Amino acid sequence: MAIDFTQYIASYENYPEPGVLFRDISPLLENGDAYKAATNEIVKFARERDVDMVVGPEARGFIVGCPVANELGVGFSPARKQDKLPGEIISASYDLEYGKASLCLRKDAIKKGQRVLVTDDLLATGGTIDATIRMVEELGGIVVGTAFIIELEELNGRDKIADYDILSLVKY
Ligand code: PRP
Ligand code: ADE
Repeated sequence: MAIDFTQYIASYENYPEPGVLFRDISPLLENGDAYKAATNEIVKFARERDVDMVVGPEARGFIVGCPVANELGVGFSPARKQDKLPGEIISASYDLEYGKASLCLRKDAIKKGQRVLVTDDLLATGGTIDATIRMVEELGGIVVGTAFIIELEELNGRDKIADYDILSLVKY
């Protein structure tokens, strides 16, 4: 039977700042069956797209992307926040629902033509995923899909990545 993932998502008003309704996947991660079921859905989506690399942004994108990559038997490359990656890197800046940030990827993280799935826990304004996609494409990767546990529809992140296939397991 299909799991109702909403029961494993906690909501906190005015966190991390006034006016934000924070959607927390911690209860889902803390339940083995729910975590496995959520990543299985993403694995199924990835298998339909012949993925050969997964990329996820720090930090919660790792939690979603690593088990998916592992199950698929492909690599995972972390898109990290500023000053966290050594060596030659590229970077992309973006706006958040609460603030501004930038992400980096190692220059040799992706090989030209690799089919990449980009994962995160949550799609809000789309700034984070868009920045991650831009870096993957700058390195010659082909973004064959994006996958999230949660999508906050009123923030219209979907519009920012309208050119890509999007899987979201729970919509608010
Ligand atoms: C959160 C979340 C997504 C992003 C979504 O990450 O995990 O990555 O915001 O927002 P957007 O669609 O408006 O870009 P956050 O930057 O809070 O970092 P964290 O994963 O380290 O908590
Ligand atoms: N990242 C951006 N907006 C968020 C929200 N409302 N809840 C959890 N994570 C977020």
